[in-house]
Amino acid sequence: MLRIANIDPIDARALLRAALGVSDTQLVAHPEQPLTDQQRARYLAWLERRRAGEPVAYVTGAREFYSLDFEVTPAVLIPRPETELLVELALERIAEDAPRRVLDLATGSGCVSIAIARQRPRARVVATEINRAALDVARTNARRHAAGNVEFVESDWFGALGAARFDVIVANPPYIAEGDPHLGEGDLRFEPRQALVAGPSGLECIGPIVARAHAHLVGGGWLLFEHGHQQAARCRGLLERIGFQEVASWRDLAGIERVSGGRV
Ligand SMILES: C[S@@+](CC[C@H](N)C(=O)[O-])C[C@H]1O[C@@H](n2cnc3c(N)ncnc32)[C@H](O)[C@@H]1O
Repeated sequence: MLRIANIDPIDARALLRAALGVSDTQLVAHPEQPLTDQQRARYLAWLERRRAGEPVAYVTGAREFYSLDFEVTPAVLIPRPETELLVELALERIAEDAPRRVLDLATGSGCVSIAIARQRPRARVVATEINRAALDVARTNARRHAAGNVEFVESDWFGALGAARFDVIVANPPYIAEGDPHLGEGDLRFEPRQALVAGPSGLECIGPIVARAHAHLVGGGWLLFEHGHQQAARCRGLLERIGFQEVASWRDLAGIERVSGGRV
């Protein structure tokens, strides 16, 4: 008898699917299929890790984003469904029939840059990241999805980019304030602090990105970035002060202002 007490049934099912290497449909279609000893041992070990609080994505090493399966390790933020809004807004501004230049700042697992690159094969995407271990994961994901039009660059924000200019810049930077109680809860306890925490106010990464993006955009180019649920008004203020046009915020599926941006 498998002990799955104290585990969300959705998590237990996701772990079982991954332990068996089957899809949800296969799981439903063949509920009678017995587990091999190896599958059973793996599933039990994974249940224990989940019971200890480890995120499902770190246990299985995978998370779906924009209908693509991404490798994830504890070196990268686990891709979030709300970040798909950033991809959607970028795609609306990247013509399909032209070799547009796109920059993804702080790429983590590479989920945003690879999703964009797959949807816009003519685009040339540059993805920067400060953490080498995260860059390794992003490169693995690009190979997995044959996204040959993404170039990964180790860089502290715009530092390694010289005077390069882009048609669209996207970013999902760290935006949680130090001491935010959420950092001690759920999956956040296991994710890299460098991917989550910006500084005392939460805007310490967004501020410099907005200030410096102007010099890296072509005329008419767009900056779009994700932020926290109470940061939209302050982000619009930063964009307006720097001189961005058409400044706006967009809501995610939960109705929360999640992405802000503007055009030069
Ligand atoms: C919130 S995660 C976003 C990852 C990925 N884009 C996503 O949406 O899942 C922020 C990322 O910023 C990176 N980062 C933090 N400081 C940075 C810096 N100064 N320059 C470049 N990247 C940085 C972190 O390593 C982390 O991968």
